[in-house]
Amino acid sequence: MARIYCRLRNVLICVCTPCMFMLLMVVYLTFSLYMVLNDSVEKMKNHNNGPLFVARGSNANGSYASLPGTFWEKEKAFWNQLQRAVDLSFNPILYPTRAKAESERVYLDDSFLDQSFSKLASIDSMKDKFEKLPEHMQHYSRSMQRRKYPILIQPDGACGAKAKHEEQTPLILFAIKSSELNIKNRQAIRQTWGQVGWVQGQKNSSNEEEEVGGYVRRVFLLGKENSQLSSLDLSDMLHAENRRYGDILQWDFEDTFFNLTLKDVLFWSWFSRSCGQTLFVFKGDDDVFVNTPKLISYLHEELKKPQARMTEFMVGDVIGNAMPIRSKTSKYFIPDSFYKGIYPSYAGGGGVVYSGQLARRLHHISKTVHLYPIDDVFVGMCMRRLNAHPVHHPAFLTFDFTKKEVEKPCSYHTILLVHKRSPEELLSLWADLKKTRTQCRDVPLRATGKPSRGVL
Ligand SMILES: *[C@@H]1O[C@H](CO)[C@@H](O)[C@H](O)[C@H]1NC(C)=O
Ligand SMILES: *[C@@H]1O[C@H](CO)[C@@H](O)[C@H](O)[C@H]1NC(C)=O
Ligand SMILES: *[C@@H]1O[C@H](CO)[C@@H](O)[C@H](O)[C@H]1NC(C)=O
Repeated sequence: MARIYCRLRNVLICVCTPCMFMLLMVVYLTFSLYMVLNDSVEKMKNHNNGPLFVARGSNANGSYASLPGTFWEKEKAFWNQLQRAVDLSFNPILYPTRAKAESERVYLDDSFLDQSFSKLASIDSMKDKFEKLPEHMQHYSRSMQRRKYPILIQPDGACGAKAKHEEQTPLILFAIKSSELNIKNRQAIRQTWGQVGWVQGQKNSSNEEEEVGGYVRRVFLLGKENSQLSSLDLSDMLHAENRRYGDILQWDFEDTFFNLTLKDVLFWSWFSRSCGQTLFVFKGDDDVFVNTPKLISYLHEELKKPQARMTEFMVGDVIGNAMPIRSKTSKYFIPDSFYKGIYPSYAGGGGVVYSGQLARRLHHISKTVHLYPIDDVFVGMCMRRLNAHPVHHPAFLTFDFTKKEVEKPCSYHTILLVHKRSPEELLSLWADLKKTRTQCRDVPLRATGKPSRGVL
């Protein structure tokens, strides 16, 4: 009996010793792998310059937004899956050199995104995902890898309508999203806040002696009206408009809500080619009012700040931690079969201002981001990949004044932008702004607004 027991013990020792070794080995390997990964993630977080795989957005109050979990999720939505393939090839852990060299992306052409698109599109699981999309998202997805569209009309001179004798590099280019039919909006903007030439900033009495101002330029960004829906052919009129004002930039794609992102991408490309040293870009809608003199003074003050970092300057009404809208009746509706996760912080509303340097960086980085149907969110996605954060300013008023505020005589002197105003309103507001200039010149910009919303 004792002998049998002894033998059994020997057998057990023989079998289990290797098992124990294996177990210890696995524990050790898991632990080291964990340490290594943790280390790289820490490094990514601490690395402040250059594009990153996952960069964090910032909240309106200046704190960092939480990291999205989406890219590590198993069940991916259509867009996330497409983008993951691109992100993998710029993953700093897998390909450290490629991921760092932002400047190299200058040489990437559009076929890069095309490749990832067509490679994935042929996979069965992607086909399933595509089939499950609602009809309007399928329609969008069919043309979303295309972003080369010919220019139909463009300004005569370089970089938009310009003043006759500019003596300095232009301070700001107004790039305004318009549509063929919004002739009245364009006309009102030309006569009011979008006037080109030398524009004086708003002086204030605390620094009377300093005169600030800058050269302003202007360009309207247009697609084409659907020719099946509208029988009007406006191209002759647009050509005439461009001959007269030199501020029409039109591409050959259908001007729809989901196609607005194309205007950003194609504008960056045109800007990088044509706009040289222009310091700032305003990108906004054709139904907003802009307090141009205040904006000019504000930008001069930003330039003077010692810590100014013009390579990543973007200011507007910043929305942090927004979720995609899942309500089918909204024009912003995005089903979760198309996109999952929170949105990066982005500047929403009627307009945003960023530096010319940033516009060029956005142009490069946008070659590694798939088009997204909501233009502001797409810009936010590009910003995240540059590890740049839009700055919130309460003087960008997406939602209107309260009743009490608007009755104050100087209310329009406290803002940089307000959405939304008709062409007639623009004309009368502009006249009022001039009339009250002296009376209101020491009124400061709005410093506190309501906190930004959690949804778009
Ligand atoms: C900033 O805002 C975010 C949400 O918008 C909040 O979670 C965070 O606590 C705020 N931070 C500070 C310092 O107030
Ligand atoms: C965008 O424009 C292209 C080119 O005109 C068109 O084929 C496509 O259907 C448009 N996409 C949407 C979503 O309207
Ligand atoms: C007036 O100018 C000074 C110096 O540039 C600036 O600090 C201050 O905020 C300005 N005041 C107003 C009301 O804009």
